[in-house]
Amino acid sequence: MNGIKDRLNRPLQDLRISVTDKCNFRCQYCMPADIFGPDFKFLPKNEILSFEEIERLAAAFSKLGVTKLRITGGEPLLRKDIANLIGRLHQIPGIEDIGLTTNGVLLPKLAKDLVDAGLHRVNVSLDALNNDIFKKINGRGVSSEVVLRGIESALDAGLGVKVNMVVQKGVNESEIIPMARHFKNMGITLRYIEFMDVGNSNGWDFSKVVTKKDMFAMLSKHFELEPVDPNYFGEVAKRYKYINTETEVGFITSVSESFCSSCTRARISADGKFYTCLFASKGYDLRELVRTYKEEEPLINAISSIWNQRADRYSDERTEESARSKEKIEMSYIGG
Ligand code: GTP
Ligand code: 5AD
Ligand code: SF4
Ligand code: SF4
Repeated sequence: MNGIKDRLNRPLQDLRISVTDKCNFRCQYCMPADIFGPDFKFLPKNEILSFEEIERLAAAFSKLGVTKLRITGGEPLLRKDIANLIGRLHQIPGIEDIGLTTNGVLLPKLAKDLVDAGLHRVNVSLDALNNDIFKKINGRGVSSEVVLRGIESALDAGLGVKVNMVVQKGVNESEIIPMARHFKNMGITLRYIEFMDVGNSNGWDFSKVVTKKDMFAMLSKHFELEPVDPNYFGEVAKRYKYINTETEVGFITSVSESFCSSCTRARISADGKFYTCLFASKGYDLRELVRTYKEEEPLINAISSIWNQRADRYSDERTEESARSKEKIEMSYIGG
């Protein structure tokens, strides 16, 4: 069987796999320290999928049309022996692209092993260069130089690198231009992400969002930009190029210009639940299936029947009310 579609005719193409719900940062918009404190109960080890279980699930997804994998967390580089997982996933027929989203801190230690195992690209999160701002945002007092060193090691190891910056009104708007300058000079793609109402603990409301339109206007005062056509159906970022260069800058506009109509992404949490939307309240338990059956067929049947029924389009329908009152999974649990 190949190429399944959901109720809105969207193909299943990408799988985002969260490998841990833990993180060494406490970004206020994702894992606020007062909620994710010393007493917070993270997933116990026996509930977390083993590498073999993840590999079997990814193989089943690939039979249904998935060609692109992204490893997420929490912070995925905290998962012990993560390069071993990349190596296993790299062997799966039909998988063409493996990326990983990270805060970058552990890249100096791990980048080379990850490349050797078959990782192609990393997206590194960095919300500010200014350390007064960045240390506050990450909640652990880590300086931006630590992340910049991670980026350097990823480049040295031969990984493709993009940088993600979540922009929050009144928090890091002042960093929009300095970040653009810095990464333009390095020839690295920077993507500005509109602050989203993921989960129920990040204090989101519309007034804290800086829209793409506002950011574009700010950038246009300093740089001349031209649009770049999407690389493939369902690309998340709206892409631009600094004129007369090959360097790109992008915007992820989940709030102001939602992209649900081309959403081809499935997600599995570290404990093996299958989510058909980042803003879902409920997942489908694949761990039970993967632990009960050794064959692939029950997995393929379950995944395709869930995808066939899918009709999620949360960002198209978002209201202040749904953002506040809908019960949603947390970002650190599902990995974005
Ligand atoms: P590539 O384009 O393959 O490099 O990766 P990506 O941008 O899809 O992944 P990344 O983990 O870097 O995510 C960047 C931002 O996009 C994060 O804030 C994600 O939460 C957000 N994002 C990714 N997929 C979706 C989606 O399907 N819906 C929404 N609303 N946001 C998404
Ligand atoms: N809104 C937008 N982006 C977010 N991220 C984490 N929380 C949010 C949020 N509430 C980003 C991270 C990382 C990516 C996986 O998602 O900074 O770059
Ligand atoms: Fe950790 Fe990323 Fe969440 Fe920050 S945004 S707390 S780095 S998982
Ligand atoms: Fe896909 Fe849900 Fe994001 Fe829409 S809100 S793009 S359906 S994950």
